[in-house]
Amino acid sequence: MTVHISPARTLHGVVQVPGDKSISHRYAMLASLAEGDSRIYNYSTGADCHSTLACMEQLGITHESREENGRRVLIVHGKGLRGLEEPKQMLDAGNSGSTIRMLSGILSAQPFTARIGGDASLSKRPMKRIITPLCQMGARIEAVEDQYPPLLIHGSRLHAIDYELPVASAQVKSCILLAGLYAAGETTVREPVQTRDHTEIALRELGADITIEPRLVRIRGGSPLSAKTLVVPGDLSSAAFLIVAALIVRDADLLIPNVGLNPTRTALLDILRGMGANIQLTHIEEINGELFGTLRVRSSRIRGGVIENGATASVIDEIPVLSILGAVSEEGLLVRDAAELRVKETDRIETISENLRKMGIEVNTSADSIQIPGKQRFRAAEIDSYGDHRIAMAFSIAALVADGECAIHGASAASVSFPEFYSTLAQIAH
Ligand code: S3P
Repeated sequence: MTVHISPARTLHGVVQVPGDKSISHRYAMLASLAEGDSRIYNYSTGADCHSTLACMEQLGITHESREENGRRVLIVHGKGLRGLEEPKQMLDAGNSGSTIRMLSGILSAQPFTARIGGDASLSKRPMKRIITPLCQMGARIEAVEDQYPPLLIHGSRLHAIDYELPVASAQVKSCILLAGLYAAGETTVREPVQTRDHTEIALRELGADITIEPRLVRIRGGSPLSAKTLVVPGDLSSAAFLIVAALIVRDADLLIPNVGLNPTRTALLDILRGMGANIQLTHIEEINGELFGTLRVRSSRIRGGVIENGATASVIDEIPVLSILGAVSEEGLLVRDAAELRVKETDRIETISENLRKMGIEVNTSADSIQIPGKQRFRAAEIDSYGDHRIAMAFSIAALVADGECAIHGASAASVSFPEFYSTLAQIAH
């Protein structure tokens, strides 16, 4: 699908973003392992989270989706820690790294063998980072060239480990914690920098025996989870595209209610405000241990700056759209310590810089950095998403400030996390 996007003079309105992708995956998996029916409000509409539900269905967990008083609710019929059934076919994680990495932790502890794989992009993503700790816990996993999907996971009796993550990754942390839910003894995960903590919070909410400290989580295996009513906040990483749009379009005032404001996700807002962004937070409340709030974003003069060390890990999904902001900022943007960008849905250092150059933007890259000088003007161009949702959306935002209409090829990739993206943009940008 090709979408054409014209430059915008104004951007106004109140918009909802889909339910948080990271939290939706976790709620679907944990509700499946809980005893009884969980009700999940505002479950992500993105294809990735459908992949998780489809995998759980293949593992014998049924769910239904209903409309109640204008709100969509997903009801997951949990069958307890020992209730999963052997899948008849390969589990299909689609494009979703979170699905394959987190679900592998659960599969490693089942009394059956399961195969899990996904699309061409997922089949190139590194899995050694989960295979190593899971094997230390006693799992038996076969992978293509020892590291790529599909994975053949022979369920085993697991034992607890004390594991220090070599790379900052919430998916790997979560994978080990989910395996730890089944392991004999107390599993400890230590992380070099704090990554998103939705798994630990959700586990605590559902009654797991878990201790959460800064950069250290312990879980004792064997204690059952209880079903619960859960509300998913709006996805801040999806909101990021609209936030940047509101910052760079000249006449903009945008309200985004019910966005997730978990402190392990809000580095984006701190960085933007530090660069001069006019962003206000109101209506803050806590539900299921997660913070929700309303964002108001207005056009701003952005200074630009450097993102490095742990800060890079905290905004890793937002780098594509921050790169757009960097090009129109006063001083430009330098992102360092970003090697992880090369192993996302695409090699994002490549796909960002390719598309920036097509739009006439100067950009310099290295193995783990990307640098974009400021005060540049976007030229109208034909963009390729390379099948990556965040690339499709980031460059759609660039198109709003280009000097003419842009074509986004492979635009449907956005549906991986934000199927309503183009209609939302059309509603607010004029
Ligand atoms: C995610 C963690 C991050 C992030 C991804 C979602 C999660 O990946 O990039 O989009 O839900 O835990 P890594 O764990 O690979 O850093």
